[in-house]
Amino acid sequence: MRRFDGRVVLLTGSGGGQGRVAALRFAREGATVVGCDINAAGHAETAALLAAEGQTLHGNAPVDLGDPEQARRWVEEAAERHGRIDVLYNNASAARFGLVGEMSVDDWRYTMRNEIDLIFYTTKYAWPHLSVRGGVVLNVSSVAAWAGSKAAGISAHAAAKGAVVSFTRQVAVEGAKLGIRAVSISPGFVATPGTEAFVRNPATRAVILDGVLMDRPGESDEVVGTAMFLASDEASFITGTDIVVDGGLLAL
Ligand SMILES: NC(=O)c1ccc[n+]([C@@H]2O[C@H](COP(=O)([O-])OP(=O)(O)OC[C@H]3O[C@@H](n4cnc5c(N)ncnc54)[C@H](O)[C@@H]3O)[C@@H](O)[C@H]2O)c1
Repeated sequence: MRRFDGRVVLLTGSGGGQGRVAALRFAREGATVVGCDINAAGHAETAALLAAEGQTLHGNAPVDLGDPEQARRWVEEAAERHGRIDVLYNNASAARFGLVGEMSVDDWRYTMRNEIDLIFYTTKYAWPHLSVRGGVVLNVSSVAAWAGSKAAGISAHAAAKGAVVSFTRQVAVEGAKLGIRAVSISPGFVATPGTEAFVRNPATRAVILDGVLMDRPGESDEVVGTAMFLASDEASFITGTDIVVDGGLLAL
């Protein structure tokens, strides 16, 4: 018996770095994985990787989850096709950066739309389905929720990721009586295809690793492994909290 046999996992951002690893690992553990991404090519590449292992990536792309109607359609089609939702893994996000005094209002709104609004939409529309037999909402935040950065203008990103943590806490409160657990994960810097250039460049690598006790970036597998534990029955007494996966950055 694998950890997610018979479970339906809705995963956002299935075309991205961590989302791709999550799709593969949840599917290997028996889950029916329903993905989506605004990036259709990325989602298709993930689907091909699963197919090469004899697995299926369900769902579709492009889906822009910042549009509530597209989010609703993706969630409801998944519930209709697969009959249930057990886990909603809100992994997708996109941010823009800039110093507070210089950042445009458009960039601020873009970040809110694509880092917090979309989590509300998918959670709202998945709620009636999660309520049937209980389930898990996993939201990906960031260490930006917990600490500022001297290296980059992260005000919008930090505000949105802080909102992910507090939104998750309230979801846990409202979900408890329905058997719904809600947990956020706050990764530190994670090496992905999208961040590879920063990791390879010695100057940016030094900035990224400043203060990281383990002196290396995290791997997608390390975040996804945490997510799998939190989504599983082994974490049955964990809700309303945030789990930091940062190589010790916040310990300093
Ligand atoms: N990589 C890091 O260093 C790091 C650190 C802390 C937190 N995180 C968080 O981890 C999560 C995964 O990030 P990643 O590193 O895999 O990044 P990524 O950019 O590779 O993946 C994110 C995916 O989300 C998709 N997406 C963005 N906006 C969308 C929308 N409106 N609708 C549908 N899909 C959308 C993107 O197309 C992309 O495929 C994100 O929530 C991110 O904020 C990442």
